[in-house]
Amino acid sequence: MADIGGDRLGTVDLRSDTVTRPTAAMRDAMARAAVGDDVYGEDPTINELEAEVAALFGHAAAVFVPSGTMGNLVALRVLCGEGEELICDADAHIVSYEAGAAAAHGGIQTRTPIVARGLLSAAIVEPQIRVDGYHAVPTTAVAVEQTHNRGGGAVYPLDTLRELRALADRHEITLHCDGARIWNAAVATGVTLSEYGALFDTMSVCLSKGLGAPVGSLVLMRDAARAERARDVRHRLGGAMRQAGILAAAGLHAVRNHIDRLADDHDRARRLAEGIAEAAPGVTDPSMVETNIVLLDLAKARVDSAGLTRACAADGVLVSNLAPRRVRLVTHLDVDDDGVDRALAAICGALL
Ligand SMILES: Cc1ncc(COP(=O)(O)O)c(C=O)c1O
Repeated sequence: MADIGGDRLGTVDLRSDTVTRPTAAMRDAMARAAVGDDVYGEDPTINELEAEVAALFGHAAAVFVPSGTMGNLVALRVLCGEGEELICDADAHIVSYEAGAAAAHGGIQTRTPIVARGLLSAAIVEPQIRVDGYHAVPTTAVAVEQTHNRGGGAVYPLDTLRELRALADRHEITLHCDGARIWNAAVATGVTLSEYGALFDTMSVCLSKGLGAPVGSLVLMRDAARAERARDVRHRLGGAMRQAGILAAAGLHAVRNHIDRLADDHDRARRLAEGIAEAAPGVTDPSMVETNIVLLDLAKARVDSAGLTRACAADGVLVSNLAPRRVRLVTHLDVDDDGVDRALAAICGALL
């Protein structure tokens, strides 16, 4: 079938795994989806997707939302009241790229330790926990990001997550996972989705990153009592949709067909990093590439981020300019081996 997503004239787009376009098989599943009014709970495809993903993570319920940003916000509003505090790392998506949603729509205050690769630990978090008292802002939740976007796709080790779970239990606070790319973590480590699920009170997992669906995330609640509250919050935010089974069908197709193939994205990310490190030592460390994200440190390179981005674009390769000397490359469903070769030629050419 022709590229019905629209041919970008052979562009290799490494800016993000959000740029994927639905495959022909996914579009076919969308076209055939049974639909109903989800505000009445009557969309069979959404109901199927919610039940299937909740079961994958061993959670009591899942609620379909349009975006990962809304997924995080719904979960955080369920866990934190106004004027309460959330601890997450300073580079977390929640505080970096969600337009201040937790503060603007939840009245939630954030406390944000700076940590290497975005990975918190119980030792870092424990001294930051505040208890309720005279003028104090009580900590009610901790959020981790698995894998960590600005941390270069870093994976939280299972033991670290277990320690954070024990810490949350000890202090009677809750643990949320921004699991936009938790599928990548599971494929990279062999830890199952249900092992991850058992550790968190709430999760937000995305269908529209490496899994390749055009739209959609799910908010997961380990405890059924939180599910109705999550549906109310979603409705209040305008996230309750009607015949959105057409979107859920893409998500179901993605969950059933696109998880295992993430290993290919990880291999390609490593190949990119190895090629760049060989041509320009010091620009990236291939041993840090655990999943589908490669960070380039241009501190000592002859081009800055703007220069590299411009030079690559001229060769049909798009990369993300994160900071004046920091560039991000992300592999995904729409980048094949030939795309990696072309990207290596463009990036190494600009660096040398
Ligand atoms: C770690 C992480 N969380 C949440 C999101 C938000 O997802 P969305 O763009 O669907 O709102 C993203 C988006 O890239 C992300 O990388």
